Amino acid sequence: MAITFDESNKIFKLDTAHTSYMIAVVDEEQFVGHVYYGAKIRMQDASCLMRTFENPLVPSVNNRERCSFMDTFPTEYAGHGIGDYRESCISVRSKAGHSAVGITYRSHRILEQKPVLEGLPSSFGECRTLVLDCMDAALGLEVELLYSVFEEEDIITRSVRVKNKSADDIYLTKVYSACIDMDSEDYEWLTLHGSWARERQIERRPLSHGKQSVGSIRGESSHQEHPFIAWLHPYTTQTQGDVYAMHFVYSGNFTAQIEKSQFDSIRVTMGINAEDFCWKLEPEEVFTAPEVVLSYAADGLGTMTRNLHDFYRKHMIRSKYAHTKRPVLINNWEATYFDFNTEKLLSIAKRASELGIEMLVMDDGWFGHRNDDSTSLGDWVVNEEKITGGLKHLVDEVNKLGLKFGIWVEPEMISPDSRLYEEHPDWAFAIPGRIPTLSRNQYVLDLSRKEVRDYVYDMISGILRSANIEYVKWDMNRQLTDMGSAALPADRQGELYHRYVLGVYELQERLISEFPDLLLENCSGGGARFDPGMLYYSPQIWCSDDTDAVERLGIQEGTALIYPLSAIGAHVSVCPNHTVGRNTPFETRGNVALAGTFGYELDVTKIPEEDQKMIPEQVKTYHKYNDLVREGDYYRIASYRENHEYDCYMVVSKDKKEALVTYVQVKGRANYKSRCIRLQGLDKELDYRLEGTEQVCGGDLLMNAGLMVENLWGDAGSRLFHLTAEGK
Ligand code: GLA
Repeated sequence: MAITFDESNKIFKLDTAHTSYMIAVVDEEQFVGHVYYGAKIRMQDASCLMRTFENPLVPSVNNRERCSFMDTFPTEYAGHGIGDYRESCISVRSKAGHSAVGITYRSHRILEQKPVLEGLPSSFGECRTLVLDCMDAALGLEVELLYSVFEEEDIITRSVRVKNKSADDIYLTKVYSACIDMDSEDYEWLTLHGSWARERQIERRPLSHGKQSVGSIRGESSHQEHPFIAWLHPYTTQTQGDVYAMHFVYSGNFTAQIEKSQFDSIRVTMGINAEDFCWKLEPEEVFTAPEVVLSYAADGLGTMTRNLHDFYRKHMIRSKYAHTKRPVLINNWEATYFDFNTEKLLSIAKRASELGIEMLVMDDGWFGHRNDDSTSLGDWVVNEEKITGGLKHLVDEVNKLGLKFGIWVEPEMISPDSRLYEEHPDWAFAIPGRIPTLSRNQYVLDLSRKEVRDYVYDMISGILRSANIEYVKWDMNRQLTDMGSAALPADRQGELYHRYVLGVYELQERLISEFPDLLLENCSGGGARFDPGMLYYSPQIWCSDDTDAVERLGIQEGTALIYPLSAIGAHVSVCPNHTVGRNTPFETRGNVALAGTFGYELDVTKIPEEDQKMIPEQVKTYHKYNDLVREGDYYRIASYRENHEYDCYMVVSKDKKEALVTYVQVKGRANYKSRCIRLQGLDKELDYRLEGTEQVCGGDLLMNAGLMVENLWGDAGSRLFHLTAEGK
């Protein structure tokens, strides 16, 4: 039973395979308290953990100290303005102008499935759901707290639905999705920060008293911070120690915060960022807050990683490509930038097909009169001066060469220099009287408006219908500013950021519904919208515009901490690398890109002959190992970010009969002996043969002593080690 209710003690217990989460309803007023989250325990009255037996007790016993109760009670969903001075989860502006909210339990339901979160991406599949129906009677606000239990993956998801049961409009000024109160135990916290071309760098630091948070007010999940937060012991490593995490299934403004209180308890909250958020809820209307994924692992970060990978692969990615090999693509962005035409693309496609590459992707610059980034976004009409003979001709010719064809689009944007802007200047976000802020020469379309979404959809779907296009790279190359909609009344302008994200979701939903066979890859100036929300629509996301193999080690380490390798867009590009100017061996660029979707981002007709010759072998390697890489269990063995010398990770098949170890020695070392690398995740009883050698080693030896890796000549050398169980 994933969800049990002890009626006499009013305790709910949610169980996954290895974890338990307990909630209690306390006191006459029926406050909803957080009792426990951690390793699996038996059902029992654990309510003492809430400390309601000690001063200040509960209000029915000591109402003199009601405020102290409110300010210390470990709650499941923190109210606002009635005595709890820690971070609140919800606040309002009522008709009378008040902001306070406080919810108490009314009833509950246990469902055998997952309720759909209207208009939002959310997990699906086998699970049970607890719905706590709560109420703020003074406001007439109904608040449903939803908990879905995914037993096998040790994941619990949370979301919140708020319904206005009063006769008046209520303005929601904050609605978070999840809150956990627990004792601190000297936790550290871990987040993923970054910038353009440096996304998702792991950062771990001590927790101090007060509030510490990461967030985005950029209208997307962003390069800069990530909608993820973990809290863990200082001694937690890949293989041992507690780690808790929250991950937000949302692609817009967010906040993820930990607050350490005066009594050393912590409150972790996650939700839509309250800055610039104000949602008008008319009587009987419902607001749904996006889903949060909760994870707890008792044995280290590696277990958290593998649980999240399994969860996203099984319960978030809907695409038919989720569990299949993706075609090896070649993208012309770093090859040509805007300077291409049919002839050039066909010459790349021809050579690519000879080398075994399977799809050509035409990137930015094929529409309007776009020859640099200053024009034409919004004018989704093929530029026949460049694409001579038209798009269908190009696609047919590419298909004749045996390659599939894919295309780049940036549907959310509008260039001031475009026909669309001439006709509909009010379709861009802007605030009357202010100079709108350009970024990469472009403005953002007001996707809260149906007519704008319809226009965008008609243009893009028209292009897709016009030729045999099997892949779309959906880009978004600037963050949001000037949040004013010409179509919304003054008291709804605070809804704009969220309405924009809902608009993006609606568009992508339409696209994949009409084109179910389309392989969609999301992208945002590299990896600024790499989040679980996007995974619901696209099985893969471009990870970063930084394609340098060494830089990618850190970016892909941070990304793979929480996302399956099957979702990570990774390509081999030309050297010196366009972002950092570094030279790395072609072989290493290939080995690093194998830990993702794999492809090329270069002019294959121009790279050195010896590099070209390596491509067929790399493509073969991709095909040989991709089932394992895509579906297997990921283990982080060593991190260049930490040791400044080398990087190592491995993927083990679920049956433990096969493993692929990737080793990159970033720094060459003079006169060094081999390095002994302790592997993980193997079966200690099995013997493994190292491919290409006569060497057979026990799983026990490889995990306890290690695999010998010879010192490599030069910088950024790399090796793949393929292990198969004897008798497999
Ligand atoms: C973004 C993407 C790149 C490329 C360019 C095109 O930066 O991340 O891969 O598509 O846009 O303008």
